[in-house]
Amino acid sequence: MFFCYMFLSLFFLGFLTDFHVSCCDENCADKPVFSVTRLVVEFGASASASCSVCQSACHNKLFGLEKSVGTEKRNGTTILWTIDKMNKWPSSAMCYYNTGNGSQCCSTLPVLVYQYPQTVNLSLLHHNGPLLEGQQYTLSCAVEKVAPVKNLIVEFLEGPRLLAQYWFKNSVEKKPTDKTFMHNINASKENDGASYWCQTKLDLGPEGPLQHRVVKSGTVFSTVHYKPYLRGPSHSGLITLMVGDSLHLNCSAEGNPSPLYTWTYSSATLSPFTGDVFSVASVSMEHQGQYICSASNSMGTTSVHFNVEVQANYMYIILAVAAAVVALVVLVFITVYVHYYRLNKTGKYNLKDVFRFHQRHVALPDGEL
Ligand SMILES: *[C@@H]1O[C@H](CO)[C@@H](O)[C@H](O)[C@H]1NC(C)=O
Repeated sequence: MFFCYMFLSLFFLGFLTDFHVSCCDENCADKPVFSVTRLVVEFGASASASCSVCQSACHNKLFGLEKSVGTEKRNGTTILWTIDKMNKWPSSAMCYYNTGNGSQCCSTLPVLVYQYPQTVNLSLLHHNGPLLEGQQYTLSCAVEKVAPVKNLIVEFLEGPRLLAQYWFKNSVEKKPTDKTFMHNINASKENDGASYWCQTKLDLGPEGPLQHRVVKSGTVFSTVHYKPYLRGPSHSGLITLMVGDSLHLNCSAEGNPSPLYTWTYSSATLSPFTGDVFSVASVSMEHQGQYICSASNSMGTTSVHFNVEVQANYMYIILAVAAAVVALVVLVFITVYVHYYRLNKTGKYNLKDVFRFHQRHVALPDGEL
């Protein structure tokens, strides 16, 4: 059988390009027509396509189908190509007929044989243990035995969020290949507890399967160590309290590992405290002054400054003045009474009786005494 079809691979400016040089004319008038524009088939699966060799030009001429796999069945000038099990990696098939003047009229059917990855694995490159805030790390997604790499899309995800998409568009490898994709991440407190994974898709075009299979890796959980971040503001204005008020200084911070707290005060009389919220139910003058809270862990320290002013309570002063006034009035009254009592010298009467006696004395008629 006469066949002149070959591939010439040229290495040109870093690109590998397929050129086919053929003595077969693909621009002939009555050329063969395939039932599909491209045959996309999974390795190991069955497939079929047919070629209608010509309208009239091939009658009584030699015609055929060039293929590396499968069987053909002829029905007039139509060739049915059947593949029970795709076990090769062809890139095309050719349908042709001899034109009679030493050349051929032909059509090429592109064939894409694909294979989903056997495994997809995500790991952190050269790292074990917790990540440190501010450092860069590399996620490595290893894809095993996928074909063709040119159609492979690799996605890196954090939880449900897509981080990046990669592909090797200019790969020419048709057979299953192992490929590793890298993606850098910068560790921050938001990534603490995050789950990373990667997944692969094969972009097989409109002739590909309707249901795209996505192959997923396992999950890598990250622990990020980060310095304490305050839950509240880092500076409070001047906190002014009255004697007897309650005091709450909140230094609560979030960090990994959990922060430890130390408090320093300008007041010398207070005892050491190591909690996140400094509380006093009822303040006195000794609580006045500056407070510095430091929240620290292995990654660093964050501080908060508080300035507390304690004022004497004016309500107490008003009550004290009122009590003094009342005491003074009582004192004056007693003084006046004692003075009056001394003047009368009878010792029998209280102040009320003095008035009553005076009245009676006036009202009684003379002689009755
Ligand atoms: C301290 O402040 C944080 C953030 O403002 C808050 O979530 C926490 O409940 C506060 N703690 C106390 C004991 O008030």
